[in-house]
Amino acid sequence: MDRNAPAALYQQIYDGYRKAIVDGSLHAGQRVPSTRMLASELRISRIPILEAYAQLLAEGYFESRVGAGTVVSHSLPDQAAVSEPRGPRATKTRSGPRPIAKRSESLPPVENLPWRRGWGPFGVSQVAFEQFPFQIWNSLVTRHCRSIRAKSLDYGNPMGSRGLREAITTYVRTARGVRCEPEQIMIVSGSQQALELTTRVLLDPGSSVWMEEPGYRLARGVFTFHGAQVVPIPVDYEGLNVAAGIKVCPNARAALVTPSHQYPLGATMSASRRLQLLDWAESSGSWVIEDDYDSEFRYESMPIASLQGLDRNARVIYIGTFSKVLFPSLRLGYIVLPADLVERFLVVRLAMDISPPTFGQAVLADFICEGHFSRHIRRMRLLYGERRSALMESLRKEFGFAVDVTGGQAGMHLSLTLKGVDDRDIAKRAAHDNLWLVPLSSSYVGKPLRQGFILGFGSTSREEIPAAVGKLHSLVAI
Ligand SMILES: Cc1ncc(COP(=O)(O)O)c(C=O)c1O
Repeated sequence: MDRNAPAALYQQIYDGYRKAIVDGSLHAGQRVPSTRMLASELRISRIPILEAYAQLLAEGYFESRVGAGTVVSHSLPDQAAVSEPRGPRATKTRSGPRPIAKRSESLPPVENLPWRRGWGPFGVSQVAFEQFPFQIWNSLVTRHCRSIRAKSLDYGNPMGSRGLREAITTYVRTARGVRCEPEQIMIVSGSQQALELTTRVLLDPGSSVWMEEPGYRLARGVFTFHGAQVVPIPVDYEGLNVAAGIKVCPNARAALVTPSHQYPLGATMSASRRLQLLDWAESSGSWVIEDDYDSEFRYESMPIASLQGLDRNARVIYIGTFSKVLFPSLRLGYIVLPADLVERFLVVRLAMDISPPTFGQAVLADFICEGHFSRHIRRMRLLYGERRSALMESLRKEFGFAVDVTGGQAGMHLSLTLKGVDDRDIAKRAAHDNLWLVPLSSSYVGKPLRQGFILGFGSTSREEIPAAVGKLHSLVAI
């Protein structure tokens, strides 16, 4: 016993016995000293010993029989199964089959991609973190912290809080041309959970799903995990090539599209392609999943209305997120559901995570309702607009007109296509130079048709851009 150790005496006794049983030093049926004997041997009071014995009895390490005293339990599983090896070699010492689901094996291991690690010039999915209205946000957080009551501790509404859903309804109707009622909105922890839920509700193992090629890598993992067949469909300057999709796989169950700002090449889906896609969905009984992840920021025209707003047949599942427009660690997004799918999404949600956490929703609802959200969007649109112009200008200066720059009309990234380069190799080298380039080739399911980089400008200041583009140019030239 160590009276100066931070662990309480009863904990030390408990740990000592448990360890001795688990590593086999004490065997089944072996008698342990009475609490009185142990107390006098250790020269401590009986109280911590009684507490430790009670815990060991409750957990089944000890058993006690009238007249026989307390013994190590006879019903402990095999020593090998009880023992808990720790450390890097632990799994090697385990025996017997350790089956896991085939579908979890279907996902490739997490790649330690060097360009994903950093914070700095060209980081994709990074917003102007330092420009966030911290004071306002903190005061709303404080307000809600102070008003936590017993009721706040209960599960929330599985669809999300009513207040936030109403605020989102007003916003998406006016800013995105989405047609919906608050009852159709489900709050989720970002687009990723929205895709997960949508896949669970709409796709069966073996269902085919169109994905833009090149497209959003993280969506592919969700579809693959659920056994869906990803069918890559090429994109061009008008967005997804619907005719090509119909030719390759007319009976797909769903199509995932980013019509406002195709990820990663940046095309805005043309009106005729939008209508063609909706027509196909209607005639083939398919669903359209619209990922509208960064459409708040458009620099050369007014925001383009959503595909959902054009749909007259309730075929579109619209996904919005606060990751780009506010910040990604918030982990809040929403799905606008066709009315007849609400009940199915609800039961699947209940089976999945019951309901979204309530605190962040309450803060965000106030942030929107008190006008801070629209003010922040206006400020960020100006800021990102400046950053994007600085980036386009620097790219032209360094690379001239020999390179293809696409997608800079909206969002917080653009794509630079280069000929005759190995973009992964350059991205690896660039990461050593604190330049965070996502290789364009990594967005392809099939053979990459383009090499180049996705360049984020959300978190790259105007002043940093010329030097960063200069570095990029010299890396490409090597
Ligand atoms: C195409 C696309 N959709 C959605 C997201 C946002 O995902 P989430 O809302 O899960 O943070 C991103 C983020 O980079 C994206 O690139």
